[in-house]
Amino acid sequence: MPEYVIAPSILSANFARLGEEVDAVIGAGADFVHFDVMDNHYVPNLTIGPLVCEALRRHGVTAPIDVHLMVRPVDRIVPDFAAAGASYITFHPEASDHVDRTLQLIREQGCKSGLVFNPATPLTWLRHVIDKVDMVLLMSVNPGFGGQGFIDYVLDKVAEAREIIDASGRDIRLEIDGGVKIDNIRRIAEAGADTFVAGSAIFGTADYAATIGRMRAELAAASR
Ligand code: DX5
Ligand code: ZN
Repeated sequence: MPEYVIAPSILSANFARLGEEVDAVIGAGADFVHFDVMDNHYVPNLTIGPLVCEALRRHGVTAPIDVHLMVRPVDRIVPDFAAAGASYITFHPEASDHVDRTLQLIREQGCKSGLVFNPATPLTWLRHVIDKVDMVLLMSVNPGFGGQGFIDYVLDKVAEAREIIDASGRDIRLEIDGGVKIDNIRRIAEAGADTFVAGSAIFGTADYAATIGRMRAELAAASR
């Protein structure tokens, strides 16, 4: 696993050509496919489900698929995503009635598990279940839409999460999602993130490789 992971959010891809878009972005140097699942209930938007994940696998996508569930309830859909080829499954603790049980379920299904924290959701939940988590995902926008602006106060939370993870001594990725761009990715890395979701900043540009290359150059210049 590279030190820094770039995970383009396919929410901003051209859905009419999704397989080609994913091939292009992985060919351009991306590491993970970030897969945003919205249910028009937990968040006010509706996107894609396990059938699309499975279709990407059948298309030949071998990169890790990072499934970000913005759905309520959570547990019903977890086995479907595991069967569809998800690598990571992350969910918002507010959307699950039994957070510990959901984390266990994700791992039992053979996937890596993660908790997602909205900008104003405290990290307290994490302390109790850190042994059941492979990924911490911090939202730097309110979930539901691509193309929103990065919420700056989340940088303090990135630093706080980094401290909790390092103190645990566990192998847990710290991912940031929302408003990540070439011009702020370095600051976010310096705060402690190692995995970067970017939707509009990548799919909104003509040359994915050039954009990802500029992001990597910023990351290489980050001091920690
Ligand atoms: C928002 C999603 C994000 C979103 C990021 O709810 O979780 O993954 O697609 O899009 P950008 O990078 O455009 O903010
Ligand atoms: Zn996301």
